[in-house]
Amino acid sequence: MPTEQNITDVLMVGATGSIGRLAVQAAQRHGLRPRALVRDVRRGEKPLPGVELVQGDLEDPASLQGAVGGADAIVLTHGSERDGRPDARAHVDYGGVRNILQALDGARPRVALMTSVHATRSDVPGATPWKRRSERLLRAGGVPYTIVRPGGFDHAGPSQRRLVLEQDGTADGGIARGQIAETLVRSLLTDTALGKTFELIAIEGNEPSDWAGLFDALKNDEHGSVDGVLDPADLPVEAEPRAVRADLDTVRSLNGSSG
Ligand SMILES: NC(=O)c1ccc[n+]([C@@H]2O[C@H](COP(=O)([O-])OP(=O)(O)OC[C@H]3O[C@@H](n4cnc5c(N)ncnc54)[C@H](OP(=O)(O)O)[C@@H]3O)[C@@H](O)[C@H]2O)c1
Repeated sequence: MPTEQNITDVLMVGATGSIGRLAVQAAQRHGLRPRALVRDVRRGEKPLPGVELVQGDLEDPASLQGAVGGADAIVLTHGSERDGRPDARAHVDYGGVRNILQALDGARPRVALMTSVHATRSDVPGATPWKRRSERLLRAGGVPYTIVRPGGFDHAGPSQRRLVLEQDGTADGGIARGQIAETLVRSLLTDTALGKTFELIAIEGNEPSDWAGLFDALKNDEHGSVDGVLDPADLPVEAEPRAVRADLDTVRSLNGSSG
């Protein structure tokens, strides 16, 4: 398993996005070698100058195989907010994670997945279960992971730099985009972040100085469970659509586990 000592090549999915661009910069700052998955190489050159670009579309599984090859880690910050299709969350936010896991073909890079502070909240306007389902795939997929559920992007003032990591789904607040990017990359480089899922907001105070301690204070997701450690039991797998259950079975079989 890639540990914090031996991560170099990092595939950045969603790299042209508002968080992905900052995640690429964070990876560079930490001495990693980011490689950006882009749908359109020419369009990717402007937001990602000097960054290695690899063509791939999350909706096209065949295009992902070359992209994931050789990656020690993967940062997933893709999203379909700008996509006008009503089923885009299923195809991109969720289907993208499924297709990346399948493309790994037995490889086990470390993965940092960004979802949302509302991932488990069915009561917020516009809520859909697709981010939560994408998290479930990752937990079932058998790769070492961290799942970061950020609050409202940039809904935090300049003096709100103290990070608050919570796990019960009730976090309410904002965070600077750069802090989300930094947290995703730190999670790859800090072994106490492994197997953890947390909401992330910022409050008045200073930047963290002890990342290992910050992640260490969190509970681990339960081994073998598809849910985050304190997630509500309001989306039973048995009641999920057949295709969603089939995807879980598929990623479990890639992982060599059955249950
Ligand atoms: N706004 C908030 O306050 C908030 C809070 C928490 C979580 N979120 C979540 O954050 C996400 C948005 O993050 P963001 O602002 O960084 O997004 P963004 O700026 O809209 O970027 C989305 C990224 O996803 C990529 N992408 C979309 N479809 C793709 C596909 N089929 N194949 C490959 N790449 C694809 C885009 O690539 P292209 O350049 O090819 O389009 C782009 O790099 C959303 O999922 C949202 O739910 C938002």
